[in-house]
Amino acid sequence: MGSQPSAAVENPSGRISFSNRLSIIAVAAGSAIGLGNIWKFPYIAGVNGGAAFIVVYLACICIIGLPVLTSEFIIGRRGQKNVIGSYVRLAGKSSPWLTGGFISLFCSATILSFYGVVAGWSLEYIVKALTNSFAGKTPAEVGGLFGSFVSSPLKPIIWQLVFMGITAAVICAGVKKGIERFSTVMMPLLLAIIVLLCIRSVTLPGAENGIAFLFKPDFSKLSAAGMLDALGHAFFTLSLGAGTMITYGSYFNKKEGLAATAVQVSVADTVIAILAGVAIFPAVFSFGLEPGAGPGLVFVTLPNVFAQMPGGYFFCILFFVLIAVAALTSSVSMLEVGVAYVTEDLGIDRVKATLLLTFLISFVGIFCSLSFGRLKELTFFSKNVFDLADFLVSNIGMPLAGMLSVLFVAWGLGRTNVEDEMSSGGSVPIGYLSAFMIVTKYLAPLGIAIVFLHSLGII
Ligand code: TRP
Repeated sequence: MGSQPSAAVENPSGRISFSNRLSIIAVAAGSAIGLGNIWKFPYIAGVNGGAAFIVVYLACICIIGLPVLTSEFIIGRRGQKNVIGSYVRLAGKSSPWLTGGFISLFCSATILSFYGVVAGWSLEYIVKALTNSFAGKTPAEVGGLFGSFVSSPLKPIIWQLVFMGITAAVICAGVKKGIERFSTVMMPLLLAIIVLLCIRSVTLPGAENGIAFLFKPDFSKLSAAGMLDALGHAFFTLSLGAGTMITYGSYFNKKEGLAATAVQVSVADTVIAILAGVAIFPAVFSFGLEPGAGPGLVFVTLPNVFAQMPGGYFFCILFFVLIAVAALTSSVSMLEVGVAYVTEDLGIDRVKATLLLTFLISFVGIFCSLSFGRLKELTFFSKNVFDLADFLVSNIGMPLAGMLSVLFVAWGLGRTNVEDEMSSGGSVPIGYLSAFMIVTKYLAPLGIAIVFLHSLGII
């Protein structure tokens, strides 16, 4: 990372670090808050009956999300290197724990390949919103608009490449001038937009039905599969199992408390997911539309909602800008995992590493995009390329890597190292430490194992 100013170095290892506490939160929350919060969370909550799902989801964040997030921070900050380098430094060069690092690296690149596709759709939708393309259309027509866009051969790919280009530009600019500066500007913007959208949504007539849907649990609507969805989503939404939080953790300065940071990031992520629900469901109910529309909720149901609401033109633009901004601060974090590895361990400079990885990831992404159209028929194990990439990482790679990271922290690093790193050399309340050790040793791995086996259809 030759382009970094040495004056900014604050860690004893000489590694560059983020400037202060606020930027750490902005950057880590920027990674966590993404399409998972604004696109996926509302629709899986919608499909699974709303409030009851949210209760289970919150439990998953606490029992699994938090310990894994804290563990990843610990590995990164103690290792002071990229995802592979950190494992090497802490576990040894030929340790089997390195598997966790390599799976994470693979996951970060693979996620970005299909994440860029959906994020690209949001850019097209900003343009569609600006040109008022949804006005006067029936729900079926808006659905058709979406279908013909995602299946067309060129347009979604162009937007995907534009999105990847912006991501690459931020990464090229470096850890502080790129990632940190970008996130500290974008996150307040994101918050402002989402609050505006919430105000609009809850002031619509009949909004209370949407609020009840979100906050009044009806457990009869929640299936076992829904509960496992909640667990899987807790993983995705906190950017776990892909080396992101390990890499970012390596840029935290030594004096930050890792447990507190993990709690704050999880709270910020959850608040934004719930605000996304508040921005979406009252409006959906107000216009008598279906909350359980699935993946099309954001790209089909919402444009219909906006087309009918007073001020809808303006709020529709804001909504898709919100999605694009949220997606960008996340995609940046995914690309940094690979770039940090390639620059540090393979000795290639940052700009070249970024271009190389962006090229490779976008290339795979093109196939993901085409699997909604031209390559629909190209399937492996009856999954198209997009679904296969998603399945490989969300159902296999990330749970495995996440599991390895907690197990490594609990059993590999052990209590003394954990205490030292968590407390930044000071002390952590003893009860907290003991609880953390028990959760990371047994509870979190067990929970992850259950989702893992379920998602493979074994249980
Ligand atoms: N957490 C982000 C979201 O909710 C996506 C994300 C960023 C991610 N980095 C990741 C997901 C690493 C899994 C792994 O959209």
